[in-house]
Amino acid sequence: MMIEQFAKDVDQGLSQTQKKLPSKYFYDKKGDELFVKIMQLPEYYVTRAEMEIFSNQTHHIIQALQLNQSEYFELIELGAGDGSKTKKLLQALSQEGYQYDYMPIDISKNALDQLEKDLNEALPEVSIQQKHGDYFKILESLKHSHHPKVLLFLGSNIGNMTDEDASKFIYHLGESLNAGDKMLIGTDLIKPKAVVLPAYNDKKGITRNFNLNLLHRMNQELDADFNVEAFEHAPEYNEQEGIAKSYLKSLRDQVVTIPATGKSYQFEEDEKIHTEISRKYNDEIMAKILSATDFEIVAKLTDSQEHFADYILNRTDTNA
Ligand code: AVI
Repeated sequence: MMIEQFAKDVDQGLSQTQKKLPSKYFYDKKGDELFVKIMQLPEYYVTRAEMEIFSNQTHHIIQALQLNQSEYFELIELGAGDGSKTKKLLQALSQEGYQYDYMPIDISKNALDQLEKDLNEALPEVSIQQKHGDYFKILESLKHSHHPKVLLFLGSNIGNMTDEDASKFIYHLGESLNAGDKMLIGTDLIKPKAVVLPAYNDKKGITRNFNLNLLHRMNQELDADFNVEAFEHAPEYNEQEGIAKSYLKSLRDQVVTIPATGKSYQFEEDEKIHTEISRKYNDEIMAKILSATDFEIVAKLTDSQEHFADYILNRTDTNA
């Protein structure tokens, strides 16, 4: 990650009336480790719910993807992850004799190498072609292969985008696909506050550390002088809106200096920096987001508690 870009984004975010920071900056080495811990927390139902779908409804997923057993296809995953959910799908596809390459895309070469190593051990029969780099650049380079494609975007990662950005993102993905290609997109569903809020405010304080790590990161990489103890993790969830929001709240009036931006920033007591949105979905929201794209919903699979949904989308024919 370029320090200049980080400094620019931080300055832009902290110069606004409602201060904010992009959530993508959570994920440095420490942030990645904390997120792995979050996924194992009893309160963080999100990962387990999607895992249940991939474990118990693998054949339903394959059916909904409408694949042809005699035609080679490319299974492309956006974000390498640890592969635990995808493994279930890969195993079933291979057992059923489908011909495909698995292509995980990630900006972290480390994450790709780790995933490839794990998969080679667990599922040596699966052919992996790791793709290191930016999602859109890689998809563009695969565009002309004309093999059928299935895109996976799991874990409710789409939920960390605003609806407008999610719509643009999906539209843009569609530009690298052909009619009939499929996308499987994992979304956390709208549900009561009593379930959602603890997932972002766990008892052990791991999510708190994950949020506060942003301040540590600015101290380390931008030479900032945030007093991390003078800020508190403050998550909110409004069920009506269906969006969990994370904030860092200043516990007192204070001034922070960031040499990399060449500026100082004032914080009032109780003033909040908005650090993340985690949008929860329903069919109506999904339909609205897709209305500005070239995708239609062909199936929706949910876990037994209806906490999470994997939507399977078809890339429509724009000329039709
Ligand atoms: C990666 N993403 C889907 C997580 C989420 O639930 O929004 C990130 C996260 N933030 C706090 N806990 C987990």
